[in-house]
Parts: sequence; C-alpha cells; structure tokens
Amino acid sequence: MVGFISSTYLALALAFRCHAVPVVSEPETTVTSAAEYTASVVPVTNVTSHGPYTGPPPTTTGALSTTILAPSIPAYPPEQYKLQYPADGKLHKPQPAPYTPAGGLGTNGSEPVYRVQSDFDYESIALALYQEWIELDLFHYGLATYPIEEFEAIGLTAEDRYLLQFMAEQEVGHATLLTNMLGPQAPVQCTYNYPSMNLREYIDFSQKLTRWGESGVYGFLNHLDAREVGQLLLQSISTEARQQMIFRQFEGLFPMPVWFEIGVPQSWAWTLLAPYISSCPENQTRLIWQNFPALRILNQPNPARINGSDVWNETLGDYAQTLNTTDISHSDFCTNSTKVGEKCTAAITHNRTNPLSYPGRQVFLEWDTPGQAVGPNNSYVTSTSAGAPKFAAWVSQLNVTYSPLMNISGNSAYTIQPNTSTYEGDPAINGTIFLLVTDRDLPVTPFNLSQVNPFVNALSIYQAG
Ligand SMILES: *[C@@H]1O[C@H](CO)[C@@H](O)[C@H](O)[C@H]1NC(C)=O
Ligand SMILES: *[C@@H]1O[C@H](CO)[C@@H](O)[C@H](O)[C@H]1NC(C)=O
Ligand SMILES: *[C@@H]1O[C@H](CO)[C@@H](O)[C@H](O)[C@H]1NC(C)=O
Ligand SMILES: *[C@@H]1O[C@H](CO)[C@@H](O)[C@H](O)[C@H]1NC(C)=O
Ligand SMILES: *[C@@H]1O[C@H](CO)[C@@H](O)[C@H](O)[C@H]1NC(C)=O
Ligand SMILES: *[C@@H]1O[C@H](CO)[C@@H](O)[C@H](O)[C@H]1NC(C)=O
Ligand SMILES: *[C@@H]1O[C@H](CO)[C@@H](O)[C@H](O)[C@H]1NC(C)=O
Ligand SMILES: *[C@@H]1O[C@H](CO)[C@@H](O)[C@H](O)[C@H]1NC(C)=O
Ligand SMILES: *[C@@H]1O[C@H](CO)[C@@H](O)[C@H](O)[C@H]1NC(C)=O
Ligand SMILES: *[C@@H]1O[C@H](CO)[C@@H](O)[C@H](O)[C@H]1NC(C)=O
Ligand SMILES: *[C@@H]1O[C@H](CO)[C@@H](O)[C@H](O)[C@H]1NC(C)=O
Ligand SMILES: *[C@@H]1O[C@H](CO)[C@@H](O)[C@H](O)[C@H]1NC(C)=O
Repeated sequence: MVGFISSTYLALALAFRCHAVPVVSEPETTVTSAAEYTASVVPVTNVTSHGPYTGPPPTTTGALSTTILAPSIPAYPPEQYKLQYPADGKLHKPQPAPYTPAGGLGTNGSEPVYRVQSDFDYESIALALYQEWIELDLFHYGLATYPIEEFEAIGLTAEDRYLLQFMAEQEVGHATLLTNMLGPQAPVQCTYNYPSMNLREYIDFSQKLTRWGESGVYGFLNHLDAREVGQLLLQSISTEARQQMIFRQFEGLFPMPVWFEIGVPQSWAWTLLAPYISSCPENQTRLIWQNFPALRILNQPNPARINGSDVWNETLGDYAQTLNTTDISHSDFCTNSTKVGEKCTAAITHNRTNPLSYPGRQVFLEWDTPGQAVGPNNSYVTSTSAGAPKFAAWVSQLNVTYSPLMNISGNSAYTIQPNTSTYEGDPAINGTIFLLVTDRDLPVTPFNLSQVNPFVNALSIYQAG
C-alpha cells in the first residue's frame, strides 16, 4: 500500500517536474480540533402564533419619511467618462502591484468596514432583514404544520424535509449577518399571517416568496454605498437563490427556465412581503419603502394542474397569487400523473408538455385602489402616484416589456402576453416573474428599474413557467 502511494506520488512529482517528493503518510489518528471562537447568532424564538393582526389601531402609520425634495428622480444622459475606457484587451495604466490591474473600487488596501453607509444602505439592508426573518419562520412553519404523509404524497422524503429545516437554519445566519451590519436598531422578528394553505400551496407560496426575496436584493446590491456590505449580502443571497430553485424542484417545476434572474426595486419586494407580516414588536424600526396596491391575475397559471394555463381565478387571492388547489379534479392534478410531461412530483427537473404560459396568451387583470392598510400592525398604507393605467409591464430576466391594457373597465382589463426574447434562444418571459400595471411605457433597464416606480398602479407575481 505504502509502496503504491509512493510510486503514485513519484509519478506525479515527475509529471509536474517537482524537485522533491511531498510528505506522504496514511492518516491513522483522529485528531481533535477545538473551535477557537464561534460567533453567536441572533436570539431566535419560534413564532408560535400566526394569523391576521387583531390588536389596536397603530399609532404610527405610513412609510418612514423625511423632507422630500422632488416627486421623482429625473432621467439624465449617461455620464460621458463611462464611454471612454478603451476596452481593447491591453493595459492602459501602471499596475499597483504584480498581477494587479489598475482600477476597481475598494481595492487600495483600506481595511474593509462592514457597516451601512447611507440611508439607502440602511433601508435596503433592513428590508432584506425583514425578508430573512419571515423566511426563517415560514420554513419552520411548514415543518411544524404539515403531516409527514402530506410531504410523502407529493414526493418529499425525510431527506427533503431535512433540507427544508436546513434552509431555516441558514436564515438564522443571514439574519445575524444583516443585524450585525445594521446595529442595535436592526428590525427584529415579527409575527406572520399566511394564507390558509395545504402543503402544495405552501410550497408554491414559498417558491414565490423566495423569488421576491432574491430579486429584491439583486435590485439594490450594486447601488449600495457600502461595497463591503454588498459583498457579504451577495454571499447570503446566493444561498437564497438556491432556496428559490429548490422550492421549484419541490413543486415539480423546471428548476431554472431562464438564462438570467430578475432584480427588482425594494418597494416591489416590500409590497409583496408586508401583507404577510401581522405585527412587529413595539419600537420596531420602520421602512421607507412604498406599498403598491395589489394586482390580481384572474387567469394566473396554476402549476398544480397538468394544463396550468387552463385556469380561471385559481389563487388564494393573496398578494403573491399563491395557487389554489381546491377546484382541481384528480385527473387534472399533475402530482397524480405518472406521464413524463405531465407529472410534477418533487424532482430535480420535469418537462411540462403544456406550458404554464405562452406568448399571445390573453391575461385578465384586476387591481386594487390605493389607501388600504397593510403590513405590520396594519400600519402601512398602499399608495400610487401613477395616472390612469394604460400598460402591463412584464419584468423578466434582463427585460421590461410593455403590453397595452385592453378593454379597461374600472379596475380591470386584459392584456396579451408579449413575445419577447432576452437573447436569441431565450424567451424572456418564463419562470416566476413580476407583472405590473403602469400609466406609461417608460423605457427602463435593470440598473434604473426603480425609475418606473412613480408610474406604477399595482403589481404582483406572474407564474410564467
Ligand atoms: C482608498 O480609496 C478610498 C476611496 O476612493 C479613499 O477614500 C482612500 O483614501 C484610499 N486609501 C488610500 C490608502 O489610498
Ligand atoms: C423551532 O422549530 C423547529 C421546527 O419545528 C425546531 O426544529 C427548532 O428546534 C425550534 N427552535 C426553537 C428555538 O424552539
Ligand atoms: C403591534 O401590535 C402588537 C400586538 O398588539 C403590539 O405589542 C406592538 O407594540 C405593536 N407594534 C407597534 C410598532 O406598534
Ligand atoms: C421603546 O423605546 C422607548 C424609548 O426609547 C423605551 O422607553 C421603551 O422601553 C422601548 N420599549 C421596548 C419594548 O423596547
Ligand atoms: C391547455 O389550456 C389552454 C388554455 O386554456 C388551451 O388552449 C389548450 O388547448 C390546452 N391544452 C391541452 C392539451 O388541453
Ligand atoms: C375569484 O374567487 C374569489 C374566491 O372564490 C371570489 O371572491 C372572487 O369574486 C372571484 N373573482 C372573480 C373575478 O371571479
Ligand atoms: C380557493 O378556491 C375555492 C374554489 O374556487 C374557493 O372557494 C376558495 O375561496 C379559494 N380560496 C381562497 C383563499 O381564495
Ligand atoms: C390526486 O391528488 C390528490 C391531491 O394530491 C390526492 O388527494 C389524491 O389522492 C390523488 N389521487 C390519486 C388517484 O392519486
Ligand atoms: C424535454 O423537453 C426537451 C425540450 O422540449 C426535449 O428536447 C426533450 O426530449 C424532453 N425530454 C423528455 C424526456 O421528454
Ligand atoms: C419555459 O421554459 C421551459 C423549460 O425550458 C419550457 O419548456 C417552456 O416552454 C418555457 N415557457 C415559455 C413560455 O417560454
Ligand atoms: C373587448 O371589448 C370589445 C368591444 O366592447 C368586445 O367586443 C370584446 O369582446 C371585449 N373583449 C374581451 C376579452 O372582453
Ligand atoms: C433584453 O435585454 C437584453 C440585455 O439588455 C437586450 O440586449 C435585449 O435587446 C432585450 N430584448 C428586447 C426584446 O428588448
């Protein structure tokens, strides 16, 4: 045995032209390694009560605000210096050190400071923290609420349930990280109000909730003043992204039907998250973000159906447009099928013969008027500064595509799902996307998406694929 190992290493040594044979020994003792130091996590108690807020009317209402300088941020042309670097593959400046190109931000040797640096940073990280807290509760809630047989019935084994538990534990770490970067006034865990759901609906809800959790962070990550904070947040949101995909797999969906994930403004994430927060403790730090009115997609595709686009009014009626299984007959239920292209038990991936949505699909919309109390202690109020609704905005991958609203009648209309590709071979509208009603077709791209906010009437999630 020893001789075999030595000759292997000799061969390797020769192959790599080393001058010495490395130390080789067979591991034979168990060496203990005591942790020198372990950072503690934020105190976590399991939220035991769920349901709507029933306490007294809030004493503080509306989003946090200060002096407001203008109704919106005007659009300006690009900064000229950004068009000047000759991207020709050659070096254009002396190198600060060997193997180190000139440029970059935060690369000059200053010690990193993992601390928010502006109102923008604080409000964004505080929003992300509200999201981590709800996920921590939601994942525990699933494990505590649904019997093992229900998990087994849709193909989720004990190993899958452990994965769900592990995802909850990841949230403890994320909440700790963000709390540390915010300081003593960091938002703490609240109590939550989920729709009444069976397991199938719960998985769909979780899949949608993690979508806005993930996308809500991508939308602001590169706008943060504190790049150090951005670095750590990126490393936690990458985990979140995996959670979103795992919920799609739990749901029997194609795990990643797109080439690019979406990034959306903070107010969109807050709009979708806040309605599920029932109450927060006294002194909870409030947020600046807007709560837009709810949008309902009357023929919201239903992933629990074999033909998921063949639906009418099959959601739980909540902001996230969670699927509703009540009216699905056994023969239309995709978990009951054993045919490839139809079946949707939990799996790494499934093909779906009948797509959930397709270009040219007529999509029926209905939206709320502003002024409704939502969120923790019913203390936030939905609002819009948009004029009369005229367009649907489809926000998917790298693209925002507008389609006109037709037959507008009061707060309802229909529109046609556009046929648009991000790049050739990549239909833009697929996966779990964001659908808005707007008063104009303002051209926006991923880095300035929040410019559309003053013109948004309502928003929701669309289950495109
Ligand atoms: C490093 O860059 C930052 C930001 O540009 C600057 O404030 C700081 O003075 C620089 N530090 C050194 C040591 O050059
Ligand atoms: C919270 O609930 C989960 C799942 O029911 C359980 O594993 C965990 O130990 C609980 N944590 C605390 C702090 O009670
Ligand atoms: C929200 O309601 C709960 C329960 O009534 C109460 O304990 C808490 O102080 C309220 N929070 C705020 C921020 O008013
Ligand atoms: C809330 O803040 C006030 C003022 O700082 C303080 O007196 C009170 O004890 C705090 N309440 C809680 C529950 O932390
Ligand atoms: C699926 O539903 C769509 C929309 O209702 C319909 O056009 C299509 O024919 C259905 N496909 C099958 C295979 O039933
Ligand atoms: C959709 O269903 C809900 C609950 O069943 C009902 O209250 C609502 O009126 C329905 N909406 C439409 C447009 O059919
Ligand atoms: C789910 O669908 C059923 C049947 O249409 C309906 O009665 C029920 O109200 C829906 N659930 C919710 C929460 O809207
Ligand atoms: C079909 O699926 C439903 C919901 O998952 C389940 O209650 C029912 O037992 C299934 N039927 C068959 C024939 O598998
Ligand atoms: C899955 O779908 C792809 C794309 O339509 C197709 O090429 C492939 O043959 C399908 N596989 C199965 C097993 O149906
Ligand atoms: C979404 O992607 C899946 C998987 O590639 C594909 O089968 C489906 O047809 C796509 N749907 C749309 C609307 O492009
Ligand atoms: C839209 O309105 C036109 C004219 O009133 C009507 O003919 C058509 O049926 C309507 N379409 C839908 C989908 O309601
Ligand atoms: C979608 O976004 C990409 C990347 O910005 C762009 O190149 C492409 O032209 C856009 N597609 C459409 C149809 O606008």
